[in-house]
Amino acid sequence: MTCSNNEIAELITFIQKLCGVCLNESKLYLLETRLDDILKRHNIASYQELARRAASPGAARLRQEIIDAITTRETLFFRDESPFQALQHKVLPELIDLKQNTPFPRRIRIWSAACSTGQEPYSIAIVLRETIPNVDAWDVQILATDISQEAIAKASRGEYEPFEIQRGLSPRLLNQYFVNQGSSWRVRDELRWMIKFEQRNLLEPFVGLGPFDIVFCRNVLIYFDKPTRKDVLLRICKVMPQHGYLFVGSSEYLGEFGPQFRPQHHCRAVYYRPNLVAGGVVRV
Ligand SMILES: C[S@@+](CC[C@H](N)C(=O)[O-])C[C@H]1O[C@@H](n2cnc3c(N)ncnc32)[C@H](O)[C@@H]1O
Repeated sequence: MTCSNNEIAELITFIQKLCGVCLNESKLYLLETRLDDILKRHNIASYQELARRAASPGAARLRQEIIDAITTRETLFFRDESPFQALQHKVLPELIDLKQNTPFPRRIRIWSAACSTGQEPYSIAIVLRETIPNVDAWDVQILATDISQEAIAKASRGEYEPFEIQRGLSPRLLNQYFVNQGSSWRVRDELRWMIKFEQRNLLEPFVGLGPFDIVFCRNVLIYFDKPTRKDVLLRICKVMPQHGYLFVGSSEYLGEFGPQFRPQHHCRAVYYRPNLVAGGVVRV
């Protein structure tokens, strides 16, 4: 499709406001490959018309189609491995010790923000089961959210094709936590019950969320511009207690957002404790 720079700019601005994903004109091929089906389906002649129609109050369905088309949902079980090792060998043991001295000694709340199709929260749930032998005696909940309706629907079903299963799951974990259904695998109820799935946009206020002991917000901030990254991060800090642990993607470095985001290391893993400073004083 031929369209003017102004038309493309209008659509790019609309998408950024809608979901934070920051494109530029060099990503025109991405707009074309991901949005042309929508144009055809809705008989829309230009990107400008698409942006204008989608902006109208009654166009929630069209907006959702754009979000589903434009978001990159690449994910896998135990992605990058080291955060899950840190969770198992450092974060959970520390948290369990600390919980003994709180009013809710057996409550753990975890948020997988931008969970895509669910491999991340199911990996977290497996780590909890592998690390806490009597986990069912604990009040544990993982909240898993994503802006994409398609992603959340698939995550909530918990059914995966063999090629998805092969990415990150060992045969032992597969046999222990999944049921074979012929051509696909389904997570066992003992994992599924630990997770609540919700469609949520990280750009919108976190009403009714938190506090979370641990937040995984990985491989989503890279799609946002710097002010949006900072805004999302500072709001995440507000739904974390002083002892909270924050994991971001391996290519997402938070040092640029100030000393509050000093990286903590465990073996090859990096995580943040943004509400703690030396002496245990809360910063936010
Ligand atoms: C590359 S996946 C990362 C999945 C998982 N966290 C991981 O690291 O494997 C990025 C996810 O961010 C979601 N996303 C993009 N913009 C979002 C927003 N504004 N609010 C919530 N989720 C968003 C996308 O739908 C996509 O599923």
